[in-house]
Amino acid sequence: MALARVEIDEFRCIERAQLRFDPHYNLFVGPNASGKTSLLEAIFFLGRGRSFRTRRLDRLIRQGKEAFRVVGWVESGGRSTVLGISGSRQSTEIRIGGAPAGGAAELANHFPPQIIDPEVHKLLEEGPQRRRRFLDWGVFHVEPQFLEVWQRYHRALRQRNAALKPNSDPRTAAIWDTELLAAGTRLDEMRRSYLALLAPTLAEYGRHLLGLDVTLSYQAGWAQGETFEEALARSADRDRRFGITHVGVHRGDVGVRVEGQLARERVSRGQQKLLAAALTLAQLAVQEARAPGSGALLLDDPAAELDGQRLGLLLELVRALNVQLFVTALRADLPGLGHPGAMFHVEQGRVTQVAELS
Ligand SMILES: Nc1ncnc2c1ncn2[C@@H]1O[C@H](COP(=O)(O)OP(=O)(O)OP(=O)(O)O)[C@@H](O)[C@H]1O
Ligand SMILES: [Mg+2]
Repeated sequence: MALARVEIDEFRCIERAQLRFDPHYNLFVGPNASGKTSLLEAIFFLGRGRSFRTRRLDRLIRQGKEAFRVVGWVESGGRSTVLGISGSRQSTEIRIGGAPAGGAAELANHFPPQIIDPEVHKLLEEGPQRRRRFLDWGVFHVEPQFLEVWQRYHRALRQRNAALKPNSDPRTAAIWDTELLAAGTRLDEMRRSYLALLAPTLAEYGRHLLGLDVTLSYQAGWAQGETFEEALARSADRDRRFGITHVGVHRGDVGVRVEGQLARERVSRGQQKLLAAALTLAQLAVQEARAPGSGALLLDDPAAELDGQRLGLLLELVRALNVQLFVTALRADLPGLGHPGAMFHVEQGRVTQVAELS
């Protein structure tokens, strides 16, 4: 799989760009505020149906305009699929192969980009939501049933929470317990097996990048030693009192530990960045092992906050993965990734391909 070509219109500072990509390594070079991250954001949007910088669609539309549009051609096994996104202030419209898509998750079956950007440390620093999303993205790529079970769980959760509100009949909430328990227990199992798959690669990458022992500790979303069913029964009174479901996989988390201590309490900011990058790369490696040639990695300003040696170690890992790369840098002399197959110069929202590459 490779993103062969994109057309971007009215996205952030980019009025219009038509780009042809290399299946291996693409480099965007330009000064600060030229539009490099915006380009990665448009590419990311094509595979994820969302931005990695904001949840507000109006921020993505070029100032003074009404909508943005990103279209991409993905080549896989000799076939080309066109993915199209248009975003207004209120909503996005997603099309795959010309037909409306059921949801953003369908895009990822065609083009599943991962990102490592200067904010990547937030994966460790912030609350559990990002880590849950990280975890579930990984499970999605190794478990064909994940999406369906995840949707069933969240539908049951919504219905149960609605039934727990004052003036609702409490017996209605119990009707949803069976479905919540079945889907939740299955998701918990999927997450556990996925983490068992991820752990050895993460340990290897952690050792490579930090020279430290990196491990994961999983929290299901209810107390250790209990089953989901027991936890739900124990929480029933509290759930009714507060009108919300307190236990379940929607409260799960995964802790990252360095030498046995929680990472965010132990390591420096640069190390946090390396750790979060190690997590992302380990996830890509697991995905690649299942479906070789299916990954894409966006690296936004990898040199930021890393010394030359650490950057070199990180890029060594990146290079070893067989994924399509989109990298931004302030200068073209980024060491460690070899020669880009395609290089683009970005200046005030205008993107031009650099013709000659040795
Ligand atoms: N909706 C928008 N419409 C027009 N311009 C925008 C919009 N959103 C952001 N910009 C501008 O786009 C410019 C490019 O931003 P971007 O983050 O892509 O730059 P960059 O090349 O990644 O810079 P840096 O090297 O500092 O990270 C900025 O000047 C920003 O203010
Ligand atoms: Mg940037």
